[in-house]
Amino acid sequence: MSQLKTAVSHLDDLPSTPGKFKPDKPTPYVQRMRFHSKLTLWSCFVAFILLFFFLTSSPGSTPSSSRRALGSDTWGGREWERRVSRSSRKRSDGGLTVLVTGAAGFVGTHVSIALKRRGDGVLGLDNFNHYYDTNLKRARQKLLERAGVFIVEGDINDASLLQKLFDVVAFTHVMHLAAQAGVRYAMQNPGSYVHSNIAGFVNLLEVCKSANPQPSIVWASSSSVYGLNSKVPFSEKDRTDQPASLYAATKKAGEEIAHTYNHIYGLSITGLRFFTVYGPWGRPDMAYFFFTKDILKGKPITIFEAPDHGTVARDFTYIDDIVKGCLAALDTAKKSTGSGGKKKGPAQLRIFNLGNTAPLPVTELVSILEKLLKVKAKRQVLPMPRNGDVKFTHANISSAHTELGYRPTTDLETGLKKFVRWYLHYYSGEKKKSAW
Ligand SMILES: NC(=O)c1ccc[n+]([C@@H]2O[C@H](COP(=O)([O-])OP(=O)(O)OC[C@H]3O[C@@H](n4cnc5c(N)ncnc54)[C@H](O)[C@@H]3O)[C@@H](O)[C@H]2O)c1
Repeated sequence: MSQLKTAVSHLDDLPSTPGKFKPDKPTPYVQRMRFHSKLTLWSCFVAFILLFFFLTSSPGSTPSSSRRALGSDTWGGREWERRVSRSSRKRSDGGLTVLVTGAAGFVGTHVSIALKRRGDGVLGLDNFNHYYDTNLKRARQKLLERAGVFIVEGDINDASLLQKLFDVVAFTHVMHLAAQAGVRYAMQNPGSYVHSNIAGFVNLLEVCKSANPQPSIVWASSSSVYGLNSKVPFSEKDRTDQPASLYAATKKAGEEIAHTYNHIYGLSITGLRFFTVYGPWGRPDMAYFFFTKDILKGKPITIFEAPDHGTVARDFTYIDDIVKGCLAALDTAKKSTGSGGKKKGPAQLRIFNLGNTAPLPVTELVSILEKLLKVKAKRQVLPMPRNGDVKFTHANISSAHTELGYRPTTDLETGLKKFVRWYLHYYSGEKKKSAW
């Protein structure tokens, strides 16, 4: 009991109502101590004020951009801006300055590298989502870094980020490839398609329409907009009002949204309907990719057949041909006519098929893979489920040929040979080495 009394005795000095406490006159030592603690308190206060002014006087004075000015978030800060500017710098006066959205994606990587190689300024943007293996996206990012292309990590729905990019760089063109791809995944995660393909696209167009100068936009639509259309080959004039999947519906919506922004704000917009693109650094969710993986592992692969044992066929298009089409679309894009959100005259609005015009049955794709991999596939043939896939695709490319000079040159066997070579190299454990 006496021990407890000693332990708490110092507490007896404290008044029951702090503030009314009047201590005895302090000794010189106590006065010195008080002076030091006051000094410390004032120093802290001044340091806090200085820090506050430093943060709020950085470009863009919202709390989040202040944080970014310190480089503590995924974007922002002086070093970040330097990288953005350096990556966007073109080598010659005639070159383009292009913002490539979805740059860590399959097509985005190839297009960015091709643009950079010919001397254009290129800045990438990608949110590195987890739809498929992010290691592959990071490996593509490394490839782009080596080529001098910086990928800003962010979402096309982030208006302040896009605004910031347009404040730092006067983009002449936007190559918009960021999207939620894949037909079947739409049944699992429909919201992701609305988020990226509709809301994100609108957000991007909003920022582009207000930019001064407005950029010209080239973006990826899809052959899937032809949906249940049965007239072959698919022509841009054919009906596209019967989408078979939510993915297709969001791409079709994108085409209508593009029309609106062209009509109201004078944005120059070109849509490209890609037909089943394949090649090195491809997408693991696509049949040619996971067939290769499963054949090598000795796992059975499922091949779908159309009703009445009908053939399922695709107009497989090699990535290099698609890249040529994208670059030609950028080069022939006319300038937008508006500025600062106001239309000054009619602007260009185009839509092109980019396919191979040589559809082949999926069974033929498997036979080529068996030959290249020197492994017999364990084929399992099942009726095609109603999950958004269509029976066949076949592009009429006469319009792209006339206006873009587009002429695909790679047949499926040649293209798959290049894919398989890349695949074996990439997955042989030498991921760090460039397989380009
Ligand atoms: N590959 C094909 O066969 C094919 C066919 C038709 C159309 N397309 C279209 O071409 C474009 C490129 O396709 P891909 O095969 O390279 O696909 P991909 O999935 O490899 O590339 C898309 C990239 O966009 C990014 N992304 C997605 N949503 C985003 C968002 N909200 N903000 C920022 N980044 C985002 C992803 O992380 C990904 O890296 C897509 O628009 C796709 O719909 C592709």
